Amino acid sequence: MKLIENIAQLATCRAEGGQGEIHAIADAAMVWEGSTIRWVGPRRELPAEYRGAERLDGRGGLVVPGLVDCHTHLAFGGWRADEFTQRIQGASNLDIARAGGGIARTVRLTREAGEDALYQRARGFVREMIPLGVTTIECKSGYGLDREHELELLRVYRRLAETEPVGIVPTFLGAHVVPQEYRERREAYVALLVDELIPTVAAERLAACCDVFVEESAFTVEEARRILLAGRAAGLAPRLHADQLTSSGGAELAAEVGALSADHLEHVSDRGIAAMGNAGVVAVSLPIASLYLGQPPMPARRLIVAGVGVAVATDFNPGSAPSYHLPFAMTLACTLQRMTPAESLKGATFYAAKALGLEQRVGSLEAGKSADFALIDAPDVEHWLYHLRPNACRLTVAGGQVVWRVSDRPDSRELA
Ligand code: NIG
Ligand code: FE
Repeated sequence: MKLIENIAQLATCRAEGGQGEIHAIADAAMVWEGSTIRWVGPRRELPAEYRGAERLDGRGGLVVPGLVDCHTHLAFGGWRADEFTQRIQGASNLDIARAGGGIARTVRLTREAGEDALYQRARGFVREMIPLGVTTIECKSGYGLDREHELELLRVYRRLAETEPVGIVPTFLGAHVVPQEYRERREAYVALLVDELIPTVAAERLAACCDVFVEESAFTVEEARRILLAGRAAGLAPRLHADQLTSSGGAELAAEVGALSADHLEHVSDRGIAAMGNAGVVAVSLPIASLYLGQPPMPARRLIVAGVGVAVATDFNPGSAPSYHLPFAMTLACTLQRMTPAESLKGATFYAAKALGLEQRVGSLEAGKSADFALIDAPDVEHWLYHLRPNACRLTVAGGQVVWRVSDRPDSRELA
């Protein structure tokens, strides 16, 4: 049995009350046993039976649920820093694609990389995310785009799930774009996904979700419907990259197929917002991608007013979002999307867990849930997301185990 106390504020982030209600407790304590939370509440109400538990000092800080990064493209070969400069100098997506860049370039580099190199690099990213307080990471395939390399990426995630002390949630994104070799026969690529890859991924339990990029430059609504329904029938929960660059009916489709989430939504329509609200689809906001692409961000306030839960994630990838710094994305959700710090925190915890269908296990601090939490060196959530630092996290606990703690010297860090 373990106990953390001396906590200025603990944000439980449980479901009730909507986006802005994080159910903060002042001068809190929390008890866990093995991987499961037993008790959370004000310290003065700590039941006598828990008083002898092994103690951790909260150092007068903030305790939040372990952060859930519910949208990343974690494993890929190479980088595209030159495109970053080209965009600054005015190049468009089309200019970059014509010069052999963009997603197609990462596909080439990923196919060349080799499974072990992909694994080693993705593991390095995970080990830099854990010190930020991240305890669950969704990871998409989508840079293989053929049978061999899509399965390779999913095997990399399976290996990470076995070796890393945090939750790894794999998503099959074979429908990221139509690969170049199928450009003149896209129908054959959709058939490959539906008839071969989805059945294999499902049978080998290589993914929990199936995602499609619905966009003029990627897949049509009709193609996406077919892929997502095939995935759903095989047990893969639907998710979508929707309305990122143009308003293309992605949000409406997400509602129609009962998707867990629709992500991006920079150009979501009013009809799409209403449909998502009725169907209970989570909107995943990816403000780092909006920032890098110089786009207006997802209209989070309109979604929240319509009763849609808004999650916040990084979209970490080598093109549009080359950062896995989730607290940075959370601050951007505040400044670019006018979400309050509390709304942003609930977005990176409870609603992010809901976008993965995992809200019964992670994303909030309640008795019976997984003991996943971060101790932040700030008096409250407002102060944490306002005073943006390289890292304010002092301790990360996943499944009841300390997986990272800052050493006593404030300038050095270590993996526990
Ligand atoms: O989520 N929207 C599509 N895919 C990625 C971009 C991937 C890339 O540029 O490599 C995204 O933003
Ligand atoms: Fe993405």
